Amino acid sequence: MDFTNLCSAAVRTLAPYVPGKPIEELEREYGIRDSIKLASNENPLGAGPRAIAAIAAACRDIGLYPDGNGFALKQMLAQRHGCTIECITLGNGSNDVLVMLAEAFLTTEVEAVYSQYAFAVYPIAVQATGAQARVAPALPEGHPMALGHDLDAMARLANEKTRIVFVANPNNPTGTWVGAVALRQFIRKLPASTLVVVDEAYIEYVDDPDFPDTSRWLAEFPNLVVTRTFSKAYGLAGLRVGYALSQPAVAGMLNRVRQAFNVNSIALAAARAALEDEEHLRKSVATAREGLRQVAAGLDELGVRHLPSQGNFLLMDCGRPAAAVYEAMLRQGVIVRPVGNYQLPNHLRLTIGTGQQNQRMLAALKHALSVGI
Ligand SMILES: Cc1ncc(COP(=O)(O)O)c(C=O)c1O
Repeated sequence: MDFTNLCSAAVRTLAPYVPGKPIEELEREYGIRDSIKLASNENPLGAGPRAIAAIAAACRDIGLYPDGNGFALKQMLAQRHGCTIECITLGNGSNDVLVMLAEAFLTTEVEAVYSQYAFAVYPIAVQATGAQARVAPALPEGHPMALGHDLDAMARLANEKTRIVFVANPNNPTGTWVGAVALRQFIRKLPASTLVVVDEAYIEYVDDPDFPDTSRWLAEFPNLVVTRTFSKAYGLAGLRVGYALSQPAVAGMLNRVRQAFNVNSIALAAARAALEDEEHLRKSVATAREGLRQVAAGLDELGVRHLPSQGNFLLMDCGRPAAAVYEAMLRQGVIVRPVGNYQLPNHLRLTIGTGQQNQRMLAALKHALSVGI
C-alpha cells in the first residue's frame, strides 16, 4: 500500500518547513562543543526573569488543563491594543494562527496571494488547503527594498476569488518592510472580501518612524487581521504563544478550527508575565538594534552585500553558493540559516545575537569566506 497516495495531491507535493539546525545535532554530528545558534531569529537573552518566575509557579498546576479561552492573557492584550477580547485569537505560536486562518478561510475554490521570498509558512499553509497560491514577484535588484514585497504587484494578483493576502512586515527572511502610506493604499485597493493578514512577528524591533502598527487600523479596515508573537522580542520561542487581532466575526471562525487547549498553561502564564516585563523587552530590543548595527558594519567591512532589516536578523549575499560558507561556519560551531528553500541559494540569514556572539559569527564568516571553497 502506498500511503502517500491516500493524501490529496496538495499535501503530497508540499515541501515541509525546514527549521534551523539545533545545537545538539551539530555538536553530535561534528564532535564539537560550545556552538552558537544564530539561525532561527530567537532572542539571545532568552526569557526574562518575570517570565521564568511565572513558568516556575505555573508548573504547580500542570495536572490541570489550561484555560482554553486564555481569558487572562486576552484581557491584557485587549487593553494593550485597545480592542475587546472577542477580537483576539491565541495560537500555539503565531504559526498556529496563520494555519488556522488558512484552514478557516481557504478552499480549493479560492486563492491566496503572497510575495516571492515571503515567510515560508504561507505557502505551506495555503497549499495544504488546496487553494490556489498567487505569488507576486519581489521587488527587483537595485530597488532599496530589493527582494521585498512589491505591493503593487500583489494588488494586481488580487481579485474577487482572493480570500487571503499575506503581508509579512518586516518580512522573514529578507528583513525588508513596507511603510504606513504604501500599506494603507494597498489595503484600500483590495476587495472587501479579501482578508489582509499583516504578520508583525518582529514589530517590537522596528525603529523606522514610518513603520505601521496595524493593530491600530482594525476599526478602519474590517478585513484586516494582524498577527503577533511572543517568540521573538519576548523571548518565549520554545513555549509557543502568538495571537491574531481581527474583527470578532473572523476570530469566531478561527475559534471553530482552533484546537481545544492549543496554548498550554505554562505558556499562558509566561506570556502574561512577559507583557509586564518592560525592562526585559527594552533590553532585548536594544541588544538586537545594537547588534544589527554591529553585524551590518562587520559585513560592510568584509565587503559582503546585505539587505536592510527592521528585524533581529540580516540577509546577506555570499556572491556564490552559500552552502559551502554555511558548512565552513558550522565547522567553527556557528549555525546560521541557509535559505535555499526560498530559492536564494547564494544568501545566508544571520540572526542577531549578543555582542560577543555577533563577533564570533563575523569571525567565522570571515574565515569561511577566506577558505574560498
Ligand atoms: C514572519 C514570521 N511570522 C511568523 C513566525 C512564526 O513564529 P511563531 O510561530 O514562533 O510565533 C515567524 C517565525 O520565525 C516569522 O519569521
